[in-house]
Amino acid sequence: MAVVQEKELLCKDFLSRPKQLLIDGKWVDAVSGKTFETVNPATEEVLCRVAEGGKEDVDKAVKAARRAFEVGPWRKMSTAERARLMLKLADLIEKHADELAQIETLDNGKPITESRYVDVPQTVETFRYYAGWATKLEGETINANSNFFTYTLREPVGVVGQIIPWNFPMLMLAWKWGPALAAGNTIVLKPAEQTPLSALRIGELALEAGFPEGVINIVTGFGANSAGEAISHHMDIDKVAFTGEDKTGKLIVQASTTNLKRVSLELGGKAPNIVFADADIDAAVKGAITGIFFNQGQVCCAGSRLFLEKNIHDEFMAKLTERVAKLRQGDGLDDKTRIGPQVSKEQQERVLSYINIAKGEGASLACGGEAPAELKKGYFVKPTIFTGVNNDMRIAQEEVFGPVLAVIPFSNMEDVAEQANKTTFGLSGAVWTRDVKKAHKFASHIKAGTVWVNCYNVFDPAVPFGGYKMSGYGRELGKHSIELYTNIKSVWVNMQD
Ligand code: NAI
Ligand code: MG
Repeated sequence: MAVVQEKELLCKDFLSRPKQLLIDGKWVDAVSGKTFETVNPATEEVLCRVAEGGKEDVDKAVKAARRAFEVGPWRKMSTAERARLMLKLADLIEKHADELAQIETLDNGKPITESRYVDVPQTVETFRYYAGWATKLEGETINANSNFFTYTLREPVGVVGQIIPWNFPMLMLAWKWGPALAAGNTIVLKPAEQTPLSALRIGELALEAGFPEGVINIVTGFGANSAGEAISHHMDIDKVAFTGEDKTGKLIVQASTTNLKRVSLELGGKAPNIVFADADIDAAVKGAITGIFFNQGQVCCAGSRLFLEKNIHDEFMAKLTERVAKLRQGDGLDDKTRIGPQVSKEQQERVLSYINIAKGEGASLACGGEAPAELKKGYFVKPTIFTGVNNDMRIAQEEVFGPVLAVIPFSNMEDVAEQANKTTFGLSGAVWTRDVKKAHKFASHIKAGTVWVNCYNVFDPAVPFGGYKMSGYGRELGKHSIELYTNIKSVWVNMQD
């Protein structure tokens, strides 16, 4: 089937409605009255304009979130009711799956098959998983001293600010809202300025589900000198969760010193994807493709450094380039598209500039290396592979965040063990081998929050995800992210007569 026809655009109504801020249960314009454009990266056409929230809007949203946290019905609600609201939201997202997938593809550019069969269902499952946690949070009693009855309470942190990126707009929302809501916090979310739309649609669904006013607030807008910065500096926000660039992460940490708010960070990566000669080569070729080209390479855990054992290098490259040549690139709304555009002109230019850097460093271009000439519009970059890369080159050390793979040959286990960890990042890594001992050795050796063995980019809401080193701190997903959104209080009761 070709590109979705206009009559099949389920999100037409949504696109034509005004895009306002969600504050205190109501849709409102920005105080400044300002709006900004959001663009379809496949066509470069403006999809619609969106309210541009700033500091005053964040202040209003925080006031509403504070009130909802301290005195609203949310606080008094049973955890079972909280869970039911979350399950209802999950059901509504599922009911509107096709519409939400189209919104995500139009705003971000990703292939519709990915929006529809990865982003939307994972979003639904994340809400369902965390709805389960709402009723399972517990404190403990501690037998420390018989003169005292001592117990702990697990309490929500309070008002949480959440700043999310554009690569998985609705999924990042779910990763952040799920544990925050399960634990009873209230939220001020700032979606990325490139992709504000799916959050706004999910905001509508959250109101429909019946979340009390002020529990969920959405302030669309920019980062620096704008809504994002206002969140990170705010004196009445108790915690900030951020996903994005490492440089921004550092600014968020610096800003947190205003009131020493808690911070969790999920930053970039430069994952080693290691293929040993004893691996199932065809499976590893497919894994290398998923590793770097999924979501146009705009993935923090992308397998951007492919380490190939020397004796399989040429065979592997032949199979890899043959498959990559068949990847169909185009408008994400076409269900045959496997690779869409980069999210923005800025990102396209950034990726193309890294391609030039790699050429300048002496890496050899095996395929791609430019914008596809046949696509006249849109921020496309051809799937690109460089061979003969040295791990010290910038193309092997800096996050490109695009469909650009750096292939690094290695001679033995010691060699690759050393190079794999020679990076400032530590988000993920992968090993391909049929040798169980080697697999486990590398799983423990790689300094990263996730290691995949004979697979890549596998996720489940129950399995924690996060970084070592400059990939950030804190773990999202699984039970560990509950820690990010709760405080432990110890209570001592004097039992002495
Ligand atoms: P970014 O880190 O600037 O943006 C992410 C979010 O942070 C957005 O919502 C943005 O508005 C907000 N933000 C930006 N500056 C801020 C500030 N000073 N205070 C508070 N909030 C702020 O990332 P950007 O510029 O969109 O992309 C640049 C690079 O960052 C990418 O090429 C990629 O390498 C990396 N990145 C990594 C992501 C990840 O998943 N780890 C996601 C997005 C980008
Ligand atoms: Mg930025």
